[in-house]
Amino acid sequence: MKSLTIIRNEHRSLGAVLFCLKHLVSEINQGKHPDFRVFHGLLMYIDRFLDRYHHPKESNYLFPAVLESNPELAPVIEELGRQHREGEQLFIRVLKALSAFEYCGPSQFSEFQQAVTDYTTFEYEHAHKEETEVLPVAEKSLSIETWEKIDTAFLNHQDPLFGDKPSGEFNKLYKEIVSIVPAPLGLGDAWES
Ligand SMILES: [Fe+2]
Ligand SMILES: [Fe+2]
Repeated sequence: MKSLTIIRNEHRSLGAVLFCLKHLVSEINQGKHPDFRVFHGLLMYIDRFLDRYHHPKESNYLFPAVLESNPELAPVIEELGRQHREGEQLFIRVLKALSAFEYCGPSQFSEFQQAVTDYTTFEYEHAHKEETEVLPVAEKSLSIETWEKIDTAFLNHQDPLFGDKPSGEFNKLYKEIVSIVPAPLGLGDAWES
């Protein structure tokens, strides 16, 4: 069941990045200057990691296997699939709001803040739904043979951007983000007020 550990670890990494994003927005709300480089780094990581790497593994391998053994979960699986697409739209809204904030200035901050709040809340709830309503059922109901197939697919999963070494590249990107996110969240210098 390596796939379950992979999914849970990926949720934790994503949770840390979403927390950073939300926290940095709340600091701007308290009067700090925005560092747009940090926001672009965080959003680039989320885009590559979540929509191009994490969600396809769930949609293409895990969900179909769970559905086959547990047809009664069809409504939940369909809802989670819809949420993968809806999350992409909410993410695009964050990107657009960031561009407007960066180009037009403080008058656009509240829209950016709202877009980030909506997006992070949505993705937290999505991951929570998977962790509580799908993963425990998968853990109990799938056969060893099915797990072997899913594990093989997960371990061979290739990311379209990073080729056959996606986890190494994501670790590198994650470290870069941590190095530019200000202390105490990351390793970068604290922002000037
Ligand atoms: Fe998902
Ligand atoms: Fe997930």
